[in-house]
Amino acid sequence: MIELKNIQKSFDTKDGKFQALKDVSIKIQEGEIFGIIGFSGAGKSTLLRVMNLLERPDSGEVNINGKNLCFLSRKDLLKERQSIGMIFQNFNLLSNKTIAENVEFPLKLAREKKSERIKRVAECLEIVGLTNKKDAYPVSLSGGQRQRVGIARALASNPKILLCDEPTSALDPRTTENILEFLKKINKQFGITIVVVTHEMEVVEQICNKVAVMENGEIVENFDLKEPITEFHSEIGEYLFKHLLNLEAKVDYVI
Ligand SMILES: Nc1ncnc2c1ncn2[C@@H]1O[C@H](COP(=O)(O)OP(=O)(O)O)[C@@H](O)[C@H]1O
Ligand SMILES: [Mg+2]
Repeated sequence: MIELKNIQKSFDTKDGKFQALKDVSIKIQEGEIFGIIGFSGAGKSTLLRVMNLLERPDSGEVNINGKNLCFLSRKDLLKERQSIGMIFQNFNLLSNKTIAENVEFPLKLAREKKSERIKRVAECLEIVGLTNKKDAYPVSLSGGQRQRVGIARALASNPKILLCDEPTSALDPRTTENILEFLKKINKQFGITIVVVTHEMEVVEQICNKVAVMENGEIVENFDLKEPITEFHSEIGEYLFKHLLNLEAKVDYVI
């Protein structure tokens, strides 16, 4: 379980302190695909980066499976981070390394044995269907294929949690669908908890079980998408989810 409690995070800017997260609390259960949606600048990426402490909060707790990451030593934190994979909008692949070397990279950092690394890289490339590209370089791959490499690299250290920051925002709609199917498959097959930050409702509709809406550094809505949405606490929530309600209304009408 991921449980953030009362997270505050501010950045120093030339105009003084900017409060990017204002007392954010969130609970994400194991096995969920949890969406975080909101407009640009809402604080979504910052919140995601707090979950693996790439961004250290000013105050609050970051509990992953009952352990508060803020209290871990550097060594223990690095170890804990291996159970948390991450993928990015722009894939963040190393352009001077082959696909196999990109996937191997986190395993090298974790000082895995060479034989283990070779085995795991093969497994991960198989999962994302890119075995035949193992010796290619990122530049020769399409956007969708690059994101699949990103997924393979994130899976390499057998994570329990996968953090995704706008994973499909650089992709066309068809490729988006394909990547979302992969994420769904990974969630089902390996029970990996997925947190996906997005500004695209399609992503929420297609794969999420739960979703939080962010605005100005705060969570303004929290929906369980298995339940009908009956009321909104924010204009942005209403704006984003209205058409979902309309869809439900149509279904009711047909029945
Ligand atoms: N390192 C930083 N330094 C200063 N301001 C930052 C930094 N990171 C994020 N911010 C600011 O915090 C706000 C939230 O950013 P971010 O979490 O990236 O939002 P989102 O991902 O929802 O677009 C933005 O106004 C952004 O400019
Ligand atoms: Mg962002």
